[in-house]
Amino acid sequence: MTASFTMNSHLGKRILALVREGNYAHAGEEEAIELALADLPRDGERALLDAGCGRGGTADYMQKNGWGRVTGVDIEPDSIREAERAYPDIRFEAGDIADLGQRYAGYFDAVTMFNVLYAIPDHARALAALAEAARPGATLVIFDYEDPGGYADHAIMEGGAGFLANPMVAGRIADILDHTGWSVTGRCDITDAYVGWYRRLVDRIRTRRADIEALAQAEGYERVLGLYSQLLGVLREGRLGGAIIRAERRA
Ligand SMILES: C[S@@+](CC[C@H](N)C(=O)[O-])C[C@H]1O[C@@H](n2cnc3c(N)ncnc32)[C@H](O)[C@@H]1O
Repeated sequence: MTASFTMNSHLGKRILALVREGNYAHAGEEEAIELALADLPRDGERALLDAGCGRGGTADYMQKNGWGRVTGVDIEPDSIREAERAYPDIRFEAGDIADLGQRYAGYFDAVTMFNVLYAIPDHARALAALAEAARPGATLVIFDYEDPGGYADHAIMEGGAGFLANPMVAGRIADILDHTGWSVTGRCDITDAYVGWYRRLVDRIRTRRADIEALAQAEGYERVLGLYSQLLGVLREGRLGGAIIRAERRA
């Protein structure tokens, strides 16, 4: 079983939660949430969608800290079951972001995506569905990897597929947002922060070796360490970056 798990599988996210000591599968954990939401005023009544919520740690952090009444949606049902068990005050549902448009037409005041877009093959389809699920004037916050150009030619592989299958491409994401009903209001390059966060993550993977091996055997540990060491390498070399993009749903 362990030979075939990917980092976005239930087991992969469980290992990341263990290493990060919280239900987070994004770079920088709580520091990253604070950074991404720094310009979003706290409003406990805001209908806030955490799209691709994983195990729910980010949804919980945002709701507890007054950013809104959070709904978490993720395509992977085991993570949603875990999130429901851990955070009973939050509404979670299993589903594909691409199907949220009709179901929630015009409902959400804000949408967050923490390291999710890179895992979605069709960015335009997902962002169009989120635009449909958001009310005019709603805020979108994307926190993700960004390819400065050329990353795909030397992509890190996980099994037979790309580890970070579809990172946003600098210069292209603004057009995709524009074509799907969003206007970009801000962009912040956080590559330096990513390097620091992944250096810390690789250190923690080494520290938690025994715990990771208990979940995924020695082979699983080597695989996790190898993937995140490679990721740290491409971030250091500037072949991949990180960015926060803020956008507003056009009327
Ligand atoms: C790296 S994890 C990040 C999880 C969470 N945002 C966090 O920060 O802890 C990426 C998540 O996106 C989810 N995902 C990928 N494609 C999706 C889709 N089309 N619809 C909903 N969720 C999706 C995966 O199941 C996974 O939980």
